Amino acid sequence: MNYSNLKLFMLILDIILQRVAANEWFTKKNPFDDISLYHDKTILIETYPTQFRLKCIQKCLSLDTSCQFITFTMNELCNIFNAVERSYYNGRNNFYFREKRLPRIHFKNGSFLDQNQLINISINFRIDISRSGLNLIVQQAFKNCETVLTLNLSFNNLTQLNSKSFYGMVKLKSLNISYNQISQLESDVFKEVPLLYILELNNNFLKRLDENLFYNLTELESINLALYNVSSNEIKTVHYDTFKSLKQIKRIHIFENQISEINSETFKGAHNLEILSINSNKLQRIDRNFSSNYRNLIDLNMSNNNLSFIEPDFFRGLVKLENLRLYGCQIKQIDLSSLVNLKVLNLAKNKIEYFSQNLSSVTNLYISSNPLVNLTYPLISSENTSVYHLDISNCLLRYTHVNIS
Ligand SMILES: *[C@@H]1O[C@H](CO)[C@@H](O)[C@H](O)[C@H]1NC(C)=O
Ligand SMILES: *[C@@H]1O[C@H](CO)[C@@H](O)[C@H](O)[C@H]1NC(C)=O
Ligand SMILES: *[C@@H]1O[C@H](CO)[C@@H](O)[C@H](O)[C@H]1NC(C)=O
Ligand SMILES: *[C@@H]1O[C@H](CO)[C@@H](O)[C@H](O)[C@H]1NC(C)=O
Ligand SMILES: *[C@@H]1O[C@H](CO)[C@@H](O)[C@H](O)[C@H]1NC(C)=O
Ligand SMILES: *[C@@H]1O[C@H](CO)[C@@H](O)[C@H](O)[C@H]1NC(C)=O
Ligand SMILES: *[C@@H]1O[C@H](CO)[C@@H](O)[C@H](O)[C@H]1NC(C)=O
Ligand SMILES: *[C@@H]1O[C@H](CO)[C@@H](O)[C@H](O)[C@H]1NC(C)=O
Ligand SMILES: *[C@@H]1O[C@H](CO)[C@@H](O)[C@H](O)[C@H]1NC(C)=O
Ligand SMILES: *[C@@H]1O[C@H](CO)[C@@H](O)[C@H](O)[C@H]1NC(C)=O
Ligand SMILES: *[C@@H]1O[C@H](CO)[C@@H](O)[C@H](O)[C@H]1NC(C)=O
Ligand SMILES: *[C@@H]1O[C@H](CO)[C@@H](O)[C@H](O)[C@H]1NC(C)=O
Repeated sequence: MNYSNLKLFMLILDIILQRVAANEWFTKKNPFDDISLYHDKTILIETYPTQFRLKCIQKCLSLDTSCQFITFTMNELCNIFNAVERSYYNGRNNFYFREKRLPRIHFKNGSFLDQNQLINISINFRIDISRSGLNLIVQQAFKNCETVLTLNLSFNNLTQLNSKSFYGMVKLKSLNISYNQISQLESDVFKEVPLLYILELNNNFLKRLDENLFYNLTELESINLALYNVSSNEIKTVHYDTFKSLKQIKRIHIFENQISEINSETFKGAHNLEILSINSNKLQRIDRNFSSNYRNLIDLNMSNNNLSFIEPDFFRGLVKLENLRLYGCQIKQIDLSSLVNLKVLNLAKNKIEYFSQNLSSVTNLYISSNPLVNLTYPLISSENTSVYHLDISNCLLRYTHVNIS
């Protein structure tokens, strides 16, 4: 069957009609489409008067499989057919063909790829369908792709992902669904891809992360839920259990969202976390225990949050931390003495008046735009300081041993 130049008229009925199974579609046929479904006679089951096409569709569904075709005409008659012959069909408008949603992926322009075509477009265990106007993955479409390792669906027009979307991709390691318009994720959508290692979901329209969403992803090392280049972003709440099974997770990017609170449970289970970017959120509360739970952190960016509430010794215990970015956080006081491996420290644009820390390993220190008057620590000014990049512009320095030239 060649549907590719048909004008598809798709009604996703599970949204409209509660009782209807999710995999029903009605496709509008053009008068002269050559469909291979002609029968040797036309069987009209019922003519049902109604003003609404939706009622006509409901009627069809109520008749189970005996309804295969409907026409809905301007004079408000709904005709329900079991079979049609070519001579009856040809030239008629308003013909809708009932079909089960076949396991395919669909593009905006009406074309689609079937299960067998999908495995055929894989090259070296990769499938790249980015920037293609992809707008629907029907359940089990990738079923034959059990050898594929990498799937790139970035820059498309997916709005939802249902369970079994990636069914069969038992070897999949890298899944890139960034830059779509996804707002709905069924909570078991990643259930059948247990070996997933990298998941890119950034730049979508996600609002919340369901508690079981990542349940089986015990191999996941990197997850990207951030929004780049977009000003109004969406994730507000992360369920406490969302990350609980991600024992291997090393990188979480969740910047530019709307998260207002992280407590000691938020990234529970993510004990191997090395990189956390939670900058540009709305943080107003962070549990005191946060830093003791993530002792493997190497890179932490919390910039552009309001951390005025934070205790000065909050970062104690992060002994592996090398990069700490706290730009624009309303911080008044901070104690960094336990961060023995810290190399890059950005404290610019805060409210720090007095800064005296033993930062023996720091090489890059940015502390500009603070109301800083006293910067005296010997390790900043001494001969063998490791600081080689120091930015103290826009401060109010009156007392310092640093030779500012
Ligand atoms: C996929 O490739 C196989 C083997 O190369 C071929 O036999 C088959 O016809 C192809 N299927 C489609 C749908 O193109
Ligand atoms: C529709 O889009 C797909 C993916 O971009 C493309 O491969 C296909 O040729 C297009 N089909 C038509 C009929 O334009
Ligand atoms: C899609 O992802 C694959 C693998 O990560 C990559 O090789 C390819 O360049 C990506 N395509 C685009 C358009 O980004
Ligand atoms: C489809 O996706 C592309 C790439 O992400 C985007 O530029 C375009 O605006 C989207 N179209 C619609 C109708 O959302
Ligand atoms: C995902 O796709 C985006 C855009 O095409 C690309 O920049 C990024 O590198 C990809 N990520 C992976 C892991 O392939
Ligand atoms: C996790 O994956 C296993 C197979 O790897 C499967 O049997 C089990 O049902 C999955 N559990 C959930 C909650 O998805
Ligand atoms: C953000 O946008 C800039 C230019 O507008 C572009 O150069 C950059 O690649 C974008 N970043 C991402 C992660 O898409
Ligand atoms: C840290 O966060 C700030 C604020 O969102 C951002 O501008 C900066 O690029 C981030 N730096 C790194 C290294 O991620
Ligand atoms: C914080 O950690 C301490 C010591 O491990 C524990 O007693 C306390 O209950 C924790 N608080 C929270 C809110 O988890
Ligand atoms: C930061 O939060 C404090 C309370 O925690 C609040 O008083 C203050 O107005 C906030 N500042 C900004 C700039 O939002
Ligand atoms: C600063 O810290 C380093 C490493 O922790 C330590 O060796 C050194 O003695 C400290 N210096 C001062 C003056 O406390
Ligand atoms: C600046 O800090 C040094 C070292 O802590 C201290 O001895 C000195 O009194 C301070 N100066 C002022 C004016 O606060």
